[in-house]
Amino acid sequence: MEIKAVRGMNDLFGAELQRWQAVEAKLRDAMTNFGYSEIRTPSLEKIEVFKAVGDETDIVEKQMYQVQDRGAHPDSKPEILVMRPEGTAGFIRAVMEHGLANTGHVSRFYYLGPMFRYERPQKGRLRQFHQLGAELIYDGSAEADAELIILLDHLLKSVGLKSENYEIRINSVGCKDCRPAYREKLIAYFKPHFAELCENCQRRLERAPMRILDCKNEVCKKLSETAPLGIDNLDEACAKQHARVKECLKAEDVTFVEDPYIVRGLDYYSRTAFEFTSNLLGAQSALGGGGRYDGLSARFGKLDFPSVGWAIGMERVMLALDAVQAKLGDAHKPVAFLAPMGAAAFDKLFPLSLKLKKQGVHVEMSYEKEKGLKWLLKQADRVQAGVAVIVGDQELASGQASVKELATGQQKNVAIADLEKELLSMKGRSPSAN
Ligand code: HAM
Repeated sequence: MEIKAVRGMNDLFGAELQRWQAVEAKLRDAMTNFGYSEIRTPSLEKIEVFKAVGDETDIVEKQMYQVQDRGAHPDSKPEILVMRPEGTAGFIRAVMEHGLANTGHVSRFYYLGPMFRYERPQKGRLRQFHQLGAELIYDGSAEADAELIILLDHLLKSVGLKSENYEIRINSVGCKDCRPAYREKLIAYFKPHFAELCENCQRRLERAPMRILDCKNEVCKKLSETAPLGIDNLDEACAKQHARVKECLKAEDVTFVEDPYIVRGLDYYSRTAFEFTSNLLGAQSALGGGGRYDGLSARFGKLDFPSVGWAIGMERVMLALDAVQAKLGDAHKPVAFLAPMGAAAFDKLFPLSLKLKKQGVHVEMSYEKEKGLKWLLKQADRVQAGVAVIVGDQELASGQASVKELATGQQKNVAIADLEKELLSMKGRSPSAN
């Protein structure tokens, strides 16, 4: 019987995984430079964590993979667990559980890991995908909002995308003070058109009318064109914050467009909301998105602090990079391939290869002991090594190894006693050592 991976869940390996790792390393580096420290939370959470986010969203309502805990332990009753569909709820749960906000000061965190959503798989849309997320807690300022957008813009550029490869779309979705009145206005606008709305939006009308504004159904879209917009119904404080965010972005030369139809797919947003979209991706055009989510912490405990964050889909970032052919991921080609011809040469090269690896030099070696030169050079080519180091009985007798540069075919002799030094000096040339 042939058993295959779950639909929409991918295996990652080989050159593709190496490309991911190179991109991830750059992203982690930039995150650290901006003062964000990593947090790792479990992939499984109690269902209540996501219910606290609000069950009015498709993600919570329809897209969560649920697991029935076994409840085998005598004092545990069976619980419903879910494979996390996103990172923010679990993050806030962890912040509250470990008192990470008790300092009362701003803190910055990032995470990188798999998320799970039961969706119809297509290009850029998977059932297991990976998010890099950034979250800044305990700061309600417009400057914090701007920092998050500037950070994401910087990260995308640091991995090889250019301004023209994506668009930053920003909006304000108001706050708990100004939203209720706007909500009523929106319901009053759509109500006479109830019969024309799609089935989904008919359900949304009383519960989450703002979500109608980003419905893809043609009729709903047409109706939304003349609907009252959140951005025109902000209270003074929200309008001021929005203006200041834009000012900060302009001061940093971060190009953006205002998109009053950005309402975000999760319920927890307030004020600033944004999406980074790319025309390199096809239908699933969002590289990432986020915004302010003041008040989410209060759904998890006593502390009520402001927060802002975003997440990007790693698969989509990689697709965009493929499209612009950013050759970041050529890393991990070995500096050298050690090619022993015969058991005596093997005994010389094997400890040398381990010594070099421990010193951070990426070398590979054949563990075949009786292969000929042609076969060995083929292997060196296959792993795309910089040089092949050939040692056979003849070389052992003369004390000179033959070192062949594979790209040019140039060959030179290096004293076997000096091989370690010679290959160490190539360390800088190894993309994986950078
Ligand atoms: P989100 O917009 O639901 O936000 O997801 C963020 C990004 O994850 C999307 O823009 C997309 O690139 C990627 N993504 C989502 N679903 C899929 C999928 N099925 N396949 C591939 N990629 C996908 C959030 O998750 C929020 N937690 C972001 C946030 C953090 N807001 C505040 N802090």
